[in-house]
Amino acid sequence: MFGRSKRILALDIGSSEIKALEVADSGGGISIHNYACTKIGNQNETIYAIKEIIRRSNFKTKRSVTSVSGRSVIVRYVTMAQMPEQDLRHAIRFEADKYIPFEVDEVQMDTQILEDQVGDGSQPEMKVLLVAVRKNLIEEHLHLLQEAGLQSAIIDVDAFALGNAFELRARQSGGLSPEKVVALIDIGANKTNINILKGSISYFTREVYLAGNDFTEAVSRKFNLDTQEAERLKCRPDDQAGEVEEAILPTLDDLGNEIQLSFDYFENQFDRVVEEVYISGGSAQLPGLQRAFEGAFEKSVVFWNPLETIEVKPGIDVKTLNQYAGQLAVAVGLASRVRKW
Ligand SMILES: Nc1ncnc2c1ncn2[C@@H]1O[C@H](COP(=O)(O)OP(=O)(O)OP(=O)(O)O)[C@@H](O)[C@H]1O
Ligand SMILES: [Mg+2]
Repeated sequence: MFGRSKRILALDIGSSEIKALEVADSGGGISIHNYACTKIGNQNETIYAIKEIIRRSNFKTKRSVTSVSGRSVIVRYVTMAQMPEQDLRHAIRFEADKYIPFEVDEVQMDTQILEDQVGDGSQPEMKVLLVAVRKNLIEEHLHLLQEAGLQSAIIDVDAFALGNAFELRARQSGGLSPEKVVALIDIGANKTNINILKGSISYFTREVYLAGNDFTEAVSRKFNLDTQEAERLKCRPDDQAGEVEEAILPTLDDLGNEIQLSFDYFENQFDRVVEEVYISGGSAQLPGLQRAFEGAFEKSVVFWNPLETIEVKPGIDVKTLNQYAGQLAVAVGLASRVRKW
């Protein structure tokens, strides 16, 4: 109640860009007090890039909320016999080897009951979200934060942070309708994250390893440019937009097909249709993406702004911040954790 409200540093350590938002709980939502973004040349530069961001930004807190992603992060939606939450943590250790491709001792697990009553009632069952992250990934991640001089308050998963950002935005504008099914697609540099929500609950997540780097490669091949030049042309095609669009179209089609496969899987499993598609991530700005996706999915494809309902404190360069808006979905989702304290 007194003094400065508690702040956190939401740090999205992407494979190509680091996005940091220093935020506080503003009562009804969150407020941004400071931010910084920087590109990373390659993975080995990550730690230097984080240190550089911290050095130049004068953040007031070291408490960080970050996320992990990739093949060492397993998310499963499983059906189990009904039991109280405290028993679930124990029971899942005996069942987990059915669902995850690693030894149970190798991973840190978390569970959440999504629906506590499913099935026909003869044998009471519940739907459970199981998240398993390899311990060595968490250790590496913690080491990185420690080396950067940060404390780790929460480690989340990219796909769930994406969902939290969407929920935060919806909450400010009347909330998510509990039966509505939407797909969030975040297209980064290395991967595309898919998170299908019914209401505010995630029912399906997947990472597809097809994203910005693959589009750069397509441009590089077509125009015979090195990676840096191709990256530049891809992001600022100016009067070559038509040719760039043509060069990336096969890759866009591949990505559209992968996403459609996920929709098909979800729709078969849950007998529900994905109603709307919401796109974010740096690669959402690709020319021709909306047309290609609307053609592939035959549903409305919306580019959403995760900053839309967020208060930005005076003194912040809002114009530059807004240029990053589409790329900040995961960071905003991490930032939303400040409200749960
Ligand atoms: N104007 C633009 N047009 C097309 N692509 C763009 C544009 N601006 C950025 N990108 C691409 O967006 C990607 C970076 O986006 P983002 O910050 O969401 O990725 P990341 O979080 O670093 O990656 P990942 O989540 O895969 O680890 C890069 O591949 C970059 O080339
Ligand atoms: Mg990312």
